[in-house]
Amino acid sequence: MPTPAALEVTDLVKTYGSRRAVDGLDLTAHHGRLTAVLGPNGAGKTSTIECCEGLRTPDGGTVRVLGLAPDDQRLRSRVGVMLQDGGLPTAARAGDVLTHVAAMYARPRDVHELRDRLGLDAFARTTVRRLSGGQRQRLALACALVGDPELVFLDEPGAGLDPQARAAVWALVRELRDRGVAVVLTTHQMDEAQALADDVVVVDHGRVVARGSVGELLTGARHTTTRLRTREPAPLEAVRGALRPGLEVRAEPDGVLTLTGDLTPQDVHRLTGALAQEGVLVADLTVGVRTLQDVFLELTGTELR
Ligand SMILES: Nc1ncnc2c1ncn2[C@@H]1O[C@H](COP(=O)(O)OP(=O)(O)OP(=O)(O)O)[C@@H](O)[C@H]1O
Ligand SMILES: [Mg+2]
Repeated sequence: MPTPAALEVTDLVKTYGSRRAVDGLDLTAHHGRLTAVLGPNGAGKTSTIECCEGLRTPDGGTVRVLGLAPDDQRLRSRVGVMLQDGGLPTAARAGDVLTHVAAMYARPRDVHELRDRLGLDAFARTTVRRLSGGQRQRLALACALVGDPELVFLDEPGAGLDPQARAAVWALVRELRDRGVAVVLTTHQMDEAQALADDVVVVDHGRVVARGSVGELLTGARHTTTRLRTREPAPLEAVRGALRPGLEVRAEPDGVLTLTGDLTPQDVHRLTGALAQEGVLVADLTVGVRTLQDVFLELTGTELR
């Protein structure tokens, strides 16, 4: 018999006034797997997660957390929660907050190990109010994990972290998953989802627009993507003129041109020829790379939310 899901969300609806922030969303998360809820700003990720945490009351659908209703008191010791806005007491010292939270559990994790792993010792005596954004994130994560939960909800755990902290957080999260914990995290950082997730649910406008493993989502992408970097700024019109209709060209903010569509050898020949005529040197050309970011933009469009 398959093991029951750690989290089962069916046809979830959450409205704020007349706005349907979550609009019939299904989500399943399993023990020993990392499930990423990926979506643009305002897609309904936090609303969904907070319904699962028992912090918001759904307007429709069902949520089962470890087989129980989300507001069941028995879940308090079994589920870890890291909120997007921290939710930590601002006047207390960071170290005291963690110790205090640990004391609420019958079998907490080793506080010293967590402090060490997340580099909290450096600011343990600082009040939460005075912590930097990234320090607060790390403390919030430690508080979510200290109870040794079976299921954790992490709302944007990687937001605002420097590369070292991010690596430490990723390592910790992977370890949880390997120990059989069900990890549900939200993110709009594609590389984070791509690096960590076993299962990805792409949400837009409160609905699931795609789901699958990272590999499945990448193979399902409509087109391949080619990245072109030139020594001098590439004349976009010349590039467009050299390509067949149907191949889309986009200038990224970092100066790279991305071409979407299946590129033939002739296309590459014409493209570099057109650039040569303009006296532009190609510095880097990578054909056929597809990232989660490409899939995400295909699914959710490019306009800002
Ligand atoms: N308490 C609230 N009252 C009214 N509207 C809200 C409330 N919370 C969220 N919303 C709205 O619901 C929609 C979904 O918000 P939500 O916070 O779930 O998005 P999100 O996917 O977590 O976004 P982000 O990536 O910015 O964290 C947004 O349009 C937001 O403005
Ligand atoms: Mg959010």
